[in-house]
Amino acid sequence: MLDDLSISGKDVCYVFYSLSSYSSPELNLEAFHWLEVAMRYTDKVVIITGAARGIGAGCARAFVDAGSKVVIADCRDDEGTKMISELNALRKGRSHFIKTDMTKMQEVENLIIVTAEQFGRIDCLINNAGWHPPHVPIDQFSIEDFRHLFELNVVSVFAACKWALPHLRKTKGNIINLASLVATIGQYYATTYVATKGAILSFTKALAIDEACHGVRVNSISPGNIWTPLWKEAVDSSDNPERTLLDGETAQPMGRMGTPEEAGRLALFIAAEATFTTGVDHLLTGGAELGYGRKVHEE
Ligand SMILES: NC(=O)c1ccc[n+]([C@@H]2O[C@H](COP(=O)([O-])OP(=O)(O)OC[C@H]3O[C@@H](n4cnc5c(N)ncnc54)[C@H](O)[C@@H]3O)[C@@H](O)[C@H]2O)c1
Repeated sequence: MLDDLSISGKDVCYVFYSLSSYSSPELNLEAFHWLEVAMRYTDKVVIITGAARGIGAGCARAFVDAGSKVVIADCRDDEGTKMISELNALRKGRSHFIKTDMTKMQEVENLIIVTAEQFGRIDCLINNAGWHPPHVPIDQFSIEDFRHLFELNVVSVFAACKWALPHLRKTKGNIINLASLVATIGQYYATTYVATKGAILSFTKALAIDEACHGVRVNSISPGNIWTPLWKEAVDSSDNPERTLLDGETAQPMGRMGTPEEAGRLALFIAAEATFTTGVDHLLTGGAELGYGRKVHEE
């Protein structure tokens, strides 16, 4: 109903909250429920790659909460299935799992075809699946390592966009690509990863120009440090886990890492509310890029 009236959930919340604060505490609670679900993306069909865990899962929770039909594409069968049971038990929209290895182009094409056939439309594509290899100097990366990472972090994004765009143009939908803060500021011993994320930033801007005439917006999110299983694996495999964790937390003036839920809320805001942004890289960093810090890396 809110969509039909072109009134945002927030407007309704505000009016409802103002009225209810003059009446009973029960009504106040009701108003807070409205506040909680202020951003709506009802019945929109959203594909999120790599959403079985981490940032992708945070996005899936946010969009299902906002009433969307979310298709989770991930190569982890068990975690993907678990995620949709969690989402469908607790939330307002619906979620579906399509097992997809994003490095296999036929599976990527199949993801788009099956989603469009099953749901009749695609409104938003979130290209999130990606990987950060352990930190080593360039001498220790093989050409094959780089090619493989490029396939996952970049070619899969190009392919998903290419095949989803005919559907996104019909709905005047949008694309959100997960880049990284390090695409802009660099990172020690991470040449291959940083190069792939730099490619995502540039690709996002180029595609945003081409698709503007079709009413499709294309944006990126650049996270800094978000506490996810990927980060936990880096901590667990380091020589000094306590120090690695502390370094991660204190890289932000805010003194903590971000959460997948915070990533989800930003993605939902870009998709549902930020209707005059395209080609924009949205920093999700807790200020990690601000100020001077110790920049000399100890071996
Ligand atoms: N966590 C951070 O601090 C951080 C910072 C900057 C950028 N990012 C980017 O955000 C994205 C998500 O990161 P995360 O920390 O949530 O990672 P994560 O490893 O916790 O989750 C990534 C998900 O992608 C899936 N995936 C990996 N390879 C796949 C493939 N071939 N096919 C299908 N699915 C695949 C995994 O199964 C997993 O569910 C990545 O693109 C990453 O580069 C993360």
